Amino acid sequence: MTQIQNMTRIAIVGAGNVGATFAHTLMLSGLAAEIVLIDRNQAKAEGEAMDLNHAVPLVQPARIWAGDYADTAGAAVTVITAGSAQHPGETRLDLLQRNAAIFNDIVSQVVKYNPEGLILVATNPVDILTYIAWKISGLPAGRVLGSGTILDTARFRYLLSEHFGVDPRSVHAYIIGEHGDSEVPVWSLANIAGMRLPMYCDKNGLNCDQNVLDEIFAKTRDAAYEIIERKGATYYAIAAGLMAIIRAILRDQNSVLSVSSHIENFYGINDVYLSLPSIVDRGGVERMLQMELSQEEIAGLQYSARILRETLDQLSY
Ligand SMILES: NC(=O)c1ccc[n+]([C@@H]2O[C@H](COP(=O)([O-])OP(=O)(O)OC[C@H]3O[C@@H](n4cnc5c(N)ncnc54)[C@H](O)[C@@H]3O)[C@@H](O)[C@H]2O)c1
Repeated sequence: MTQIQNMTRIAIVGAGNVGATFAHTLMLSGLAAEIVLIDRNQAKAEGEAMDLNHAVPLVQPARIWAGDYADTAGAAVTVITAGSAQHPGETRLDLLQRNAAIFNDIVSQVVKYNPEGLILVATNPVDILTYIAWKISGLPAGRVLGSGTILDTARFRYLLSEHFGVDPRSVHAYIIGEHGDSEVPVWSLANIAGMRLPMYCDKNGLNCDQNVLDEIFAKTRDAAYEIIERKGATYYAIAAGLMAIIRAILRDQNSVLSVSSHIENFYGINDVYLSLPSIVDRGGVERMLQMELSQEEIAGLQYSARILRETLDQLSY
């Protein structure tokens, strides 16, 4: 296998809801020549690979197989979606410790076979596990990233677009910080056609009352709980989010995406992974952007960082 053929290999560790749906999205995109699925449950990975392969003649050419860690060699990106669900009676910290141990194993294997590629983490809690993946990998921070708030930002833009009656792609707004309860909506910079929301509402006779906006944010933050209550898991939108990140990487797009990156010296925050709009290219996270946030938003981001740092301390990272 030559290096060039390997340029568009994507390895996916974890062939569950998220991993398999992402593999499907990636296959339809035609961007990857090779997709390898790795799962502790080998039969599950094989079944997913078979099902996906049967679509190949109808969509885009791609080589898809169930493999092992040696197959991560030469992958441009290894996407980690493997995770363990909470056991009955297990605390959140116990679960975290178990997932940290799983990550130790997975990431050590990945870097053994693929010291050159990027690592993209989606497993929750994504900011904590991306930090751990970075530490274990020994890779430069820019080459280990998490899906972060890419999904929350998409949910936010969708819900705002519903309220304002415009295409979600025309709504420019970010959720930053932790992918989780302490995430922060950047209201001060949210805009449509360069108009901040209060001005947009004013000019278009729409309601921008804070309680309406707060409700939109609450729906964004709590979306996963709502979906899981109804269908048990979420996977289509995160798969599209992972796809947006992979596209930015493979096509060297310099896209601005709210991915989880290692933060050092931003708004007084140090040594955590969390999401800020970042430029993503072939090398991973090229840099994070320092937004002009309001005092309230900075305080929210710092609180988010504190929660993440405390959890990392509990795990001795
Ligand atoms: N970041 C986000 O925005 C986002 C969104 C949705 C889900 N998630 C997270 O993605 C993760 C996966 O969710 P899911 O619904 O696909 O779960 P799932 O249970 O369907 O799949 C997890 C898969 O991981 C595999 N696995 C477990 N331990 C492994 C190991 N040590 N090595 C290899 N494979 C292993 C399992 O066999 C299983 O197939 C969860 O942590 C979930 O919270 C993140």
